[in-house]
Amino acid sequence: MASRGNFNSRLGFILASAGSAVGLGNIWKFPFEVGAGGGAAFLLIYLCFALLLCFPVMTAEIAIGRRTNSSPVGAFRKLGFPKWSGVGYLGLASGVLILSFYNVVAAWSFGYFFEMVRGNFSIGANFSDYTADLIKISIYGVLFMSATAFIVSRGVSQGIERAAKIMMPSLIILILGLIIYSLTLPDALAGIKYYLLPDFSKLTGSVVYSALGQAFFSLSLGMGALITFGSYLKKDTNIVSSAAIITVSDVSIAFLAGLMMFPIVAYLTQGDLQAISQISGEESFIFQTMPAVFESLGSTLGVIIGGLFFLLLSFAALTSTISLLEVPTAFLVDEKKIQRSKATWLVALVVFLVGIPSMLGAGSSSFFADFIRLPGMENSMSFMAVVGLVGGSTFLSLGGFLISIFTAYVWKKRNFNEEIYYENEGRLGRLLRLYVDFAIGVICPIVLGILCLVTILNNYFGISW
Ligand code: PHE
Repeated sequence: MASRGNFNSRLGFILASAGSAVGLGNIWKFPFEVGAGGGAAFLLIYLCFALLLCFPVMTAEIAIGRRTNSSPVGAFRKLGFPKWSGVGYLGLASGVLILSFYNVVAAWSFGYFFEMVRGNFSIGANFSDYTADLIKISIYGVLFMSATAFIVSRGVSQGIERAAKIMMPSLIILILGLIIYSLTLPDALAGIKYYLLPDFSKLTGSVVYSALGQAFFSLSLGMGALITFGSYLKKDTNIVSSAAIITVSDVSIAFLAGLMMFPIVAYLTQGDLQAISQISGEESFIFQTMPAVFESLGSTLGVIIGGLFFLLLSFAALTSTISLLEVPTAFLVDEKKIQRSKATWLVALVVFLVGIPSMLGAGSSSFFADFIRLPGMENSMSFMAVVGLVGGSTFLSLGGFLISIFTAYVWKKRNFNEEIYYENEGRLGRLLRLYVDFAIGVICPIVLGILCLVTILNNYFGISW
C-alpha cells in the first residue's frame, strides 16, 4: 500500500493542528463575541470550556486517529464498530459545509489585504457593495481555495506540515507586532480595561452557550479534523501533552487577538466603554469598522498596519481551510483509493460550488440573503448563516457528543487509555491523563449533549428558556 504520509516531527503536528484551530474563529469571531458577552466574563467562561471540556475531546480524536491510521469514516470501522462510521460521514458533511462558507469569508479577508495595500480605506463603508461584487469575490474565492488545495495536494509533510511551519510563526510575529502597535494608541488602556475586567452582569445563559459553541468550533473539534491529523502521527508521540499544547496555543492566540483589537476599538471610540461594547459586538466589525481606523493612522502607516492586519487574518484562515479540506480529501484517498492530488482538487471544486449560494447571499441575491426563517428566529437567515448553523454548530456539537460517548463506552476507556499512555509522561502528564479519562465519560457527553440539544431546540423549534 502506498504510504498515506506522516508528520515528520511532533512540532510539525502541533503547528498544523494549532493552525487548524487558530482561524477566523479566533481573530474575527472571538473579539466580537467577547464584545457582546461582557468582556472578561466571556473570556473566563471560554477558557474553562476550552480547558475542561474541549481538551479531553481533542485527546480522544487524536487517539482514535492514531490508533487506526485512518481518516474518520474508516477509523470507526477499523476499531470494529462499522455502524459508528456514520460519525465519520457526519464529520465529512461538516467539513464540506464549513469550508464552503469559510472560504467566502476568507476570500473577503484576502481581498481586503489588497484593498488596504492600495490604500482603499473607504471599503469599510462600502462593505456590502464589496461582498455583492460577485466577480471580484469569486476571483478571490478561487485564489484562496486554490492556495488551500495546492498545499493539501502536496501531502502531509511536504504540504501541510511545511506550510504550518512557515505560517504559524509568521502569524505570531504579526499578531505581536500589531499588539505592540495598538497599545501605543491613545485610549488603549480603556480597551484593555474593558477586555480584562469582567462584567458578570452580562453573563446570561445565551452568553455561556455561545462561549461553549465558540470554544468547540475554535478548537476544530467534532468533525474529525484531529482524527485525520492524528492518523498521521507517529506512535512515540505523547498525545495528552500535544493536545494540551494545541489547546493552550489556540486559547492564547484568541486572547492575543483580543489584546490587539480592544485598544484599537477604544481608540476609535475615544475610550467610551459603552461604545466599545456596542461596536466590538458587531459581526461585521472587522470589515466595516477597522478600515476607518487604519485610515486615521495616515496614508503610509494605514497601508502598512491595515495590510498586515488582513494578511494575518488570511494566514489564520488558510491554516484552517487546509485542515477542513484535508478531511474529505483523506476520505477519498483512504476509502476510495483516489490519488491525493486528484482527490484534493475534486473536493476543492465541489466545495467551491457548494459555497456559491453563500457568496450570493452576501448582497447579490435577495433569495439567498433572506433564505429561510426558522421557528426560533425573529428574522430570516442568509444561506451562509444556515450552513453555519447546520454544519458549524449542530453537526459539530452532535459529532463531539457522539465521539465522547464512543470513546468512553463503545471503544472503551481501557483501549483509549492504552493509546494515550506515555511512558515518560511525568507527574503533570499523568494528572492530565487521569483528568481526560474521567472527563471523556462524564463531563463531555453531558455538556456536549446539552449543547447539541439546546442548539436544536432553540434554532429549529424555537424553544428557549
Ligand atoms: N477552528 C477554526 C477557526 O477557529 C475553524 C475550523 C472548524 C477548522 C472546524 C477546522 C474544523 O476558525
